[in-house]
Amino acid sequence: MNNNILEVTYLIASVTFVIGLKMMSNPKSARKGNLIAAGGMTLAIIGTIFLYENGEGFTSREPIKVGLIFLGIGIGTIIGWMTAKKVQMTKMPELVSMFNGMGGACAALIGLMEFQHNVGNTGPQIAVIMGMIIGSVSFSGSVIAFLKLNGTMNKPIRLPSYNIINSAILIGVLAYAGYMIFSGTSSNVLLYLLFAAALFYGIMFVIPIGGADMPVVISLLNSFTGLAAAFGGFLYGNKVMLTGGILVGSAGTLLTIVMCKAMNRPLSNVIFGAFGNSDAAAAGTSSVNGSIKDITISDAATLMNYSKKVVIVPGYGLAVAQAQHVIHELENLLEERGVEVKYAIHPVAGRMPGHMNVLLAESNVDYGKLVEMEEINPEFNSTDVVLVVGANDVVNPAAKNDPASPIYGMPILDVENAQHILVNKSSMNAGYAGIENELFYDPKTSMLFGDAKAVLTKLVAEIKSM
Ligand code: TAP
Repeated sequence: MNNNILEVTYLIASVTFVIGLKMMSNPKSARKGNLIAAGGMTLAIIGTIFLYENGEGFTSREPIKVGLIFLGIGIGTIIGWMTAKKVQMTKMPELVSMFNGMGGACAALIGLMEFQHNVGNTGPQIAVIMGMIIGSVSFSGSVIAFLKLNGTMNKPIRLPSYNIINSAILIGVLAYAGYMIFSGTSSNVLLYLLFAAALFYGIMFVIPIGGADMPVVISLLNSFTGLAAAFGGFLYGNKVMLTGGILVGSAGTLLTIVMCKAMNRPLSNVIFGAFGNSDAAAAGTSSVNGSIKDITISDAATLMNYSKKVVIVPGYGLAVAQAQHVIHELENLLEERGVEVKYAIHPVAGRMPGHMNVLLAESNVDYGKLVEMEEINPEFNSTDVVLVVGANDVVNPAAKNDPASPIYGMPILDVENAQHILVNKSSMNAGYAGIENELFYDPKTSMLFGDAKAVLTKLVAEIKSM
């Protein structure tokens, strides 16, 4: 009886995951979607603790064990809640990698605990061993990704022929797993050696990849964690674990594909390539002819104030400077003066999917003003001023003009079609791809050097005084 009720709670929880995921596709409903899915997960956990019946039927729970479970949940909730509350927007990929690593570690621990219970049972043992391997790779890989993102490990470490070494380790781990499953061994020593080998492979897999490619890697590791959880679902015949794992696995895979597509780079190039390193950068536009010209705050303010249409292009620098509130103030001010203002959103602007949407939603920018790349590109011809704030690669014409450039083929915002281009950045430093940008040398471009928040604050003050 209890198990039937439990199945119903699992079904409800699975439906909330699907609804929550759907709602996350729009920033307006995303927060609610997250809460609905979290509610479903809470229901599934509480249901499992109080309703699960084993083969001998329902046995009343030992209060100490239930107490310990709630103590663990409580500690985890407090740590997770406080970390997520405190984290800055720019540090979000780090947080995601850490949380993802925890999911991988859980899947690995399930494997370690369930191994002895399934010796000689080939089917379940496949789920045990594969879940443990994938979870371990996801855990150690996520820890390395975290260390790279927070700057502790800021240089990619590449052994000579690292691709061959890594492929050999992977084949070795899989062959070892095959032996463990089909030999029916019950050796804990062999199990822990396999666990160590999988952890080692996770480290070797992520260590050669450049820090800036970490969002793609994290999304890939996220899909691994989902897969590992789904193996746990198979093992326990637990439908909600299976659904959750499959949803995480497929969402992570899709996100990885979408990110690679938007950067016009195959996944193999992210994993095996060396994007943004000196060799790749040298292969691209190494020197650009022409000179750059500055513009004063007062001239830039005048130009925008007397425009009919201004398009703002936000990029990673806007997030670094935390200038989302002041940019909204600038937008309001210009609109009050009859200027039409829109934001051009490139799919991989910033460092995580939807980074600019989330950042601008934080300062209550009207979602209708955020225009996707494909829609805004034809509008640049009729735009008086484009204000590029902390964006670089997403407006680099080398993606269209220079077949030798590492970003060649990446779809970009066609800002060079506007009448005037104002670019705000703090120096002539390159962006993520590590290459020069010929846009800055375009005769129509004027540079507004300085931290985005400081420059935009001055622009707002100047326009107010007009
Ligand atoms: P980037 O090309 O990284 O350029 C950002 C620019 O912001 C830099 O040139 C930097 O120049 C400037 N900047 C830094 N701090 C600033 C500040 N405080 N004030 C003003 N400017 C500042 O950024 P983007 O155009 O947004 O392109 C994103 C890149 O990241 C793409 O190449 C994309 O492929 C890659 N990427 C994106 C994702 C996702 S999912 N979004 C994931 C992985 C990789 P200065 O140092 O001179 O100021």
